[in-house]
Amino acid sequence: MKKYNSSKGARKIFVTTALPYANGELHIGHIMEYIQADIWVRFQCMQQDNGQSRQVYFICADDAHGAAIMIAAERVGMTPKEFINNISSNRKKYLDGFYIKFDNWYSTDSIENINLVQEIYSDLYNKAKLIIDKKINQFFDPIKNIFLSDRYIKGECPICNAKDQYGDFCECCGSVYTPTKLINSYSVLSGAKPIIKSSKHFFFKLSDKRCVNFLRQWAINDKRLQPEIVNKIKEWLEKDNKLNDWDISRDAPYFGIKIPNTSEKYFYVWLDAPIGYLASLKNYFEKGGPKKKYNELRNFNEFISSPETEQYHFIGKDIFYFHILFWPAILKFSGRKIPNNIFVHGFMTINGKKMSKSNKIGISPLYYLKIGMNPEWLRYYIASKLNNKIEDINFNSQNFISCVNSDLIGKYINIASRSASFIEKYFKGYLNMKWVKNNDIFLSKLRIVGLSIQKYYENREFNKVLYIVIEQANFINVFFDKNKPWELAKNNIYHEKLHKVSSRLLEAFRILTIYLKPVLPNLAQSVEEFLNISPLQWINIFTPLTKNHKINKYKHLMTRVDTNIIDNLLKNKNI
Ligand code: 2FM
Ligand code: ZN
Repeated sequence: MKKYNSSKGARKIFVTTALPYANGELHIGHIMEYIQADIWVRFQCMQQDNGQSRQVYFICADDAHGAAIMIAAERVGMTPKEFINNISSNRKKYLDGFYIKFDNWYSTDSIENINLVQEIYSDLYNKAKLIIDKKINQFFDPIKNIFLSDRYIKGECPICNAKDQYGDFCECCGSVYTPTKLINSYSVLSGAKPIIKSSKHFFFKLSDKRCVNFLRQWAINDKRLQPEIVNKIKEWLEKDNKLNDWDISRDAPYFGIKIPNTSEKYFYVWLDAPIGYLASLKNYFEKGGPKKKYNELRNFNEFISSPETEQYHFIGKDIFYFHILFWPAILKFSGRKIPNNIFVHGFMTINGKKMSKSNKIGISPLYYLKIGMNPEWLRYYIASKLNNKIEDINFNSQNFISCVNSDLIGKYINIASRSASFIEKYFKGYLNMKWVKNNDIFLSKLRIVGLSIQKYYENREFNKVLYIVIEQANFINVFFDKNKPWELAKNNIYHEKLHKVSSRLLEAFRILTIYLKPVLPNLAQSVEEFLNISPLQWINIFTPLTKNHKINKYKHLMTRVDTNIIDNLLKNKNI
């Protein structure tokens, strides 16, 4: 086994998606994010740098702490631990079902996370001196003996008098207010009238000049973030040239990690959740992950502090605040590696409507699989919409059908299904690659677009990747139609040409498969079996099939999607 040697020059990348709360099943929004990150990771895994495979670690975990989980567990008569274990035991079927291949799935309620959180806190407290405490007043439920966050207080809207509105926002008139303004407020947990009580809280001093200066550099000047995010941060920083301190503690009862040297104070879930990214990676390293994956001995501390390691987080637009202010600042001032980038995406809408559990608008990922819809249809569809902007992605039934049937199957799969029959029928499965010269213009063009495709994958512009692939598939189909192999087949004297045309078509199909492999990993595997080749890597764009290569019998690669199945999917209200 190799010992890690830093002079090798291949990129080392640590990638995460947001950690889902362990208080519910995964929804289609989670799946969309995981598919986005999985495509990017699979693309990276196919790359080499200086002849060495790129090393990529793709990590996730359950976000297990917080009041919401504690309350949800109590409602069903379970301990929080039982509750989260139950939820996390269901994750695998979603991930396997959609070919989402994390290297590790762990939990923020783990010993690694507890230790890391306490170490980071201690560094912020003792070394950086960025933790302060202040007394604050908060609503308190006198029956349940628990402090109440805004979402656990309801009452009448002070503006429109609508009943049963949340502590901070009226769903009827859209007004935003503080819970003290609510009329006849009550605790959602017990119905009691909340009282105001004071308590000592710990704060991370984000207002400190060091933090503000660091964030101005990291988030704005370095030009790493998406423009929409930079604008938002400029707004915060430039408005009053300061950031507010961040309350990182919660009073008991709370399901979370104890704050050292306090009695009954816990870290706010948003402090320990992102540290869970590191904890899951640490757990993976300690289980010997790098040895299994790359046959290399690597140590977590060495990896995560190495300047060579790149760190990226995929997240949704609702949580960028936490990831772009607190997370980099916490890492920086606890003396740790800071993320190279945070990739923010929009939400998914369904036929133009916002997803909503209460309004029953959404798609159940498990129902999608249960009714036999192909997970790669969704991966392809999502990829065809995804770019590197923070735009919502609409699931449109008609568009989904045409994307899969006309483009994916009609243009790409068809190349193989139409060409393979000639090779099977007339040439016993043998290609004749001697005709396919290195300077073959038709194939050279197809190889050259690989450079743009590589750039678009790297920049997360998957829509552009698929646009190019389909454009190329169109050219290949024109080549097919122009050469009329079905006519060539009719007369032996044309069989040499038929052999050449069909071989070139299958070589073109092989190259397109490389381009699509990050999006369609399972299909690519079937193609590899059909073409009788080893797993395709990016470099294989330039390693054509050997002269007398024999392919296997063509088996149907993908079925078409029909309207009925989509209607069935959208009728399901159990989302
Ligand atoms: O918004 C959420 O679903 C959070 N559970 C995301 C946490 S991401 C990270 F910080 F752990
Ligand atoms: Zn109102």
